[in-house]
Amino acid sequence: MDKFNFAVNLVREAQLIIKDKKDKFTYHKKTNNSDLVTDVDILVEDFISRKIKERYNKDSILGEERNKSFNEDSFNQWILDPIDGTLNFIHQGENFAISLAYYEKKKPIFGIVLDVISDDLYYAIKGEGAFYNDNKLEIQTSKPLVDSIVITSHRWIMDGCLEKFLDKIKSVRHLRYYGVASLEICYIARGLADLYISAKLFPWDYAAAMIIAKEVGLVAKNFKNKNLDGFIESEVVITSEEIYEEVFN
Ligand code: IPD
Ligand code: CA
Ligand code: CA
Repeated sequence: MDKFNFAVNLVREAQLIIKDKKDKFTYHKKTNNSDLVTDVDILVEDFISRKIKERYNKDSILGEERNKSFNEDSFNQWILDPIDGTLNFIHQGENFAISLAYYEKKKPIFGIVLDVISDDLYYAIKGEGAFYNDNKLEIQTSKPLVDSIVITSHRWIMDGCLEKFLDKIKSVRHLRYYGVASLEICYIARGLADLYISAKLFPWDYAAAMIIAKEVGLVAKNFKNKNLDGFIESEVVITSEEIYEEVFN
């Protein structure tokens, strides 16, 4: 698929830009002390958006830093997070990703998530399965909740957003949090953990990874059993149907 190959090459070019700037960036606060943006986030969003527009000038782009308005009527819609895990980029220099999804008529076509430093590439083309570094990811068989690893933010727990589900969450084997939603969802698709819960994500955080997770048979829902389409700010749960039932229904 031409467009998919174009997108993977573009993400690879952006990876080189980020690596080159990794030790020479500036940043500032957006809304609060934990909401930061670097000049590299903006540079990469501008680069990817410009390249998409040069090649596909009728396509629309929803991006975190520059192109926040979503075009409801767009036939061809890209959703981009130039750096997912900006705090990791700033504080650790690793554990961050480029996330790029592509939809036609509001239907998912493909999703790409690249761990910039480890070079792990996750992708899925609708109906053709999901891949991790070109290895096909297998459909996940569900584990019992008590044997599950859950990825969620301690922030959601401290803020009380998961209050209703805490008894269930306490019964699991353990919790993890990496601070990069797109990769965390890909870890569920890879079987490294079993349940991902966020009380709030934006389309650019989860659209691409959600396409990957759904291709391995996982569900993507809010806390009220509604399937997600990737276009709205939402609670996001990624897991097996069985674990979803046990925790949320
Ligand atoms: C953030 C990360 C983080 C998630 C936050 C996102 P950003 O994205 O994905 O894991 O918990 O909700 O905002 O700001 O680093 O692109
Ligand atoms: Ca993000
Ligand atoms: Ca971001």
